[in-house]
Amino acid sequence: MTTQETQAETRLPGLMFPTGFVWGAATSAYQIEGAVTADGRGTSVWDTFVSRPGSVVGGENADVAIDHYNRYRDDVRLMADLGLTAYRFSVSWPRIQPDGAGEINAKGLDFYKRLVDELLSYGIDPWVTLYHWDLPQALEDAGGWPARDTSKRFADFAAVVHDGLGDRVRNWSTVNEPWCAAFLGYASGEHAPGRREPAAAVRAAHHLNLAHGLAVQAMRAQRADSLIGGCVNLYAITPASDSEADRDAARRIDGLQNRFFLDALLTGAYPEDVLEDLREITDTGFIQDGDLGTIAAPIDMLLINYYSRFTVSGAPGGAQSAAAAPTDSGSPWVGSEHVGFVNGGRPVTAMGWEIDDSGLNELLVRLTREYPPIPLIISENGAAFEDELTADDRVHDPDRLAYIDAHLRTCHAAIEAGIPLQGYFAWSLMDNFEWAWGYDKRFGLVYVDYPTQRRILKDSALWYAETARHGGLLG
Ligand code: NOJ
Repeated sequence: MTTQETQAETRLPGLMFPTGFVWGAATSAYQIEGAVTADGRGTSVWDTFVSRPGSVVGGENADVAIDHYNRYRDDVRLMADLGLTAYRFSVSWPRIQPDGAGEINAKGLDFYKRLVDELLSYGIDPWVTLYHWDLPQALEDAGGWPARDTSKRFADFAAVVHDGLGDRVRNWSTVNEPWCAAFLGYASGEHAPGRREPAAAVRAAHHLNLAHGLAVQAMRAQRADSLIGGCVNLYAITPASDSEADRDAARRIDGLQNRFFLDALLTGAYPEDVLEDLREITDTGFIQDGDLGTIAAPIDMLLINYYSRFTVSGAPGGAQSAAAAPTDSGSPWVGSEHVGFVNGGRPVTAMGWEIDDSGLNELLVRLTREYPPIPLIISENGAAFEDELTADDRVHDPDRLAYIDAHLRTCHAAIEAGIPLQGYFAWSLMDNFEWAWGYDKRFGLVYVDYPTQRRILKDSALWYAETARHGGLLG
């Protein structure tokens, strides 16, 4: 027996995941596509935002990004090389409806038809996200997410895309991370459209939830065989101490970050304590009778983006948000500005986010205990680290590999414990435009050499490919 064979023998079978477990990677339209004026694409709030000085580190924008619009065929081949069984991507609303309503831009929709067909030709399952933050500017000009009408426009858009792609796409999600879209977009102003209007942010959060529910209804009316989910970004949250002030701070942050979305989608009610904390805003009549019933329209799965844990105290200070804004910004924590974020003493990623896979376990257990049963998908998980391209075209990224490995081990344990977790998508397939951080932070399994647009597999990509092919973690 050769040494290699001996090694293979001792490594197999390792931690095997159930047959059919989804091994994926994720991206979003604005972060990768570029080609912002191609084929009749309209303007989104992000196009406008990046042109405002001071919004993005280094004044960067995503006009070219990683040129995926032109390179999608090569990128899909790369996914096939990596053994992915699924790819989660978003569709750009202004590509399909340049002004956010009415007239469909066939060329925009055609791009996604070509992309999906390409994926299917390699046996890769397309997972479509309908909204990953690129609101058509015309809709922002009409009020944006704080305006109720935007929810209805979104449902129409969802119906257009579902009608166009529903024959070839089975798995759908509505709004990616509504917390970010609402509170980073309209309260702290770290994200597009860059408004700092706390009350408007709470209205936006409700209308994003409503948009989700209306879209689910619209898509269900079109066909019964689509699997549709909502996508939330959850954080494990710990009080800094057992003091009443710290525990109350943790309750507030958990309320705004996690329960405002989970409770609405899964139980059809907003948490009473959050409504109470925000009474002056929530009592202004924008939450209408019947809205919560719509928001809780039955879904087939919950998509969870998980990155980190917050340790929270009753005294202000520390990082203000998950994105820990690189630019000048306000607080996204409407009604909880007195709350502080404390260093929990764990190692951090290049974003400054604490690494803690036990937080993922905590959330999965909590979801199973406190909410009605529903299939779960990790729709994003991953980490930015400083990557360096070596002279022989390699990227050694042991920290990213260890991060994903640890979180996959947690997923495996959760499945063993009976939690209905059915898939995992690494964020991200490739390095890309990290919003207010521009190209400064690299989350990819695949390294992108921005000047040449060359794609280079990092060590983590090679390892993830082996894991996906094997259907589990090698021992
Ligand atoms: C969540 C977002 O969905 C994605 O767009 C972003 O790049 C990652 N987190 C990392 O910040």
